[in-house]
Amino acid sequence: MLSIYLHIPFCQSKCDYCDFFSVAVPHPRFANYPALLHQHLELAARQPEWQGPVHSVYFGGGTPSLLTASDIAALLNSIDNGFGLATDVEISLEANPGTLSLAQLQGYRAAGVNRLSLGVQTFDNQLLQQLGRRHDAQDSRQAVMLARQAGFANLSLDLMFALPGQTLPALREEIRNYLELAPQHFSCYGLTAEPDTPLGAAVRNSHTTLPDEELYADAFLTLHDALESAGYRHYEIANYAQADFACRHNLVYWQRQPYMGLGAGAHSFCDIDWGQRRATANDLDAYHAALQTNTDPAETLETFNRQTAMAEALYLGLRTRQGVSEEAFRTRFGTGVASAFPSALTELANRLELQDGYWRFRPHDWLLFDRLIQAFF
Ligand SMILES: C[S@@+](CC[C@H](N)C(=O)[O-])C[C@H]1O[C@@H](n2cnc3c(N)ncnc32)[C@H](O)[C@@H]1O
Ligand code: SF4
Repeated sequence: MLSIYLHIPFCQSKCDYCDFFSVAVPHPRFANYPALLHQHLELAARQPEWQGPVHSVYFGGGTPSLLTASDIAALLNSIDNGFGLATDVEISLEANPGTLSLAQLQGYRAAGVNRLSLGVQTFDNQLLQQLGRRHDAQDSRQAVMLARQAGFANLSLDLMFALPGQTLPALREEIRNYLELAPQHFSCYGLTAEPDTPLGAAVRNSHTTLPDEELYADAFLTLHDALESAGYRHYEIANYAQADFACRHNLVYWQRQPYMGLGAGAHSFCDIDWGQRRATANDLDAYHAALQTNTDPAETLETFNRQTAMAEALYLGLRTRQGVSEEAFRTRFGTGVASAFPSALTELANRLELQDGYWRFRPHDWLLFDRLIQAFF
């Protein structure tokens, strides 16, 4: 079983908070990019470590909806030829409101995309502008309507919280707006001021203030309560889904299963020995140059040993509501979690619980995740 991630590092313009690898179009490397992805795929299909069938494909970005439906159809066709698509394959595509027509969405659906992730972010037009988004609230509503009309029955919305000046009543109003659209899935991200972004600079210079830790925690728990009451399961720190709509592709990351990344700036996890992480550089020229000479553009970032693999399995698995299966851990590593990490278990005695064979944190402890997880490293 394999999952494939395709990184599309192009956007109409850069949002003020975003430090994901993407460049603004027009860009000289844009037109040829799908051809490079095909070449990358052909190269990967000859590597014995990547074995199909493929059970999830994710077009992420950047803005994958800058590619045409025929680009997407051709890439899916090549993936099918190279690896084989499972009959129930989940195929996700990230799309930005304000850039989508009905015909384009119908084209994606006909190409085989069956899950659409829309970057709504907020319904507050003033905040959208302040964050450097190109769309408004009405564009988001329209995008959801068109996606449904085009036949998408699995919609995810990106929601950002802890926005500048956002109070709890304002967040509750936001949540009401989101729930009216009744998507199957939400990804919820607290706004982070990444250092190398205009937002990072504005926060450093005190031109913008983000909510403090206490308000952040209240916002996280407000979201948790409201979305769970509306029937969405908080299945991972940042993700909520209706029954049967958890994102299969993302579960692969948290369960430490293999995935292959294609494109400049894409990451891969390869399941050889204790595992290996690889990445292609955030560099479109280097990506182009490597493929011109038929060279694998990916470099190995980390090769795991048993100890680092065990710690990573916990780091990833404890982000999920399901948690880490004691039995699966024992089968993989030949030891149980408690005997592998005795001092971490003592340190986390009141937080980490073993229930029905799974180790897990409670959702409100996820707020402390970055601190708590250090016990395993
Ligand atoms: C890589 S973006 C791709 C989605 C798509 N390009 C869009 O903007 O609609 C994935 C999501 O990450 C979130 N994100 C990006 N930067 C963030 C930041 N600094 N803080 C919080 N969330 C962020 C946004 O919600 C965004 O929709
Ligand atoms: S948030 Fe999305 S649209 Fe904005 S710059 Fe990042 S990837 Fe591009």
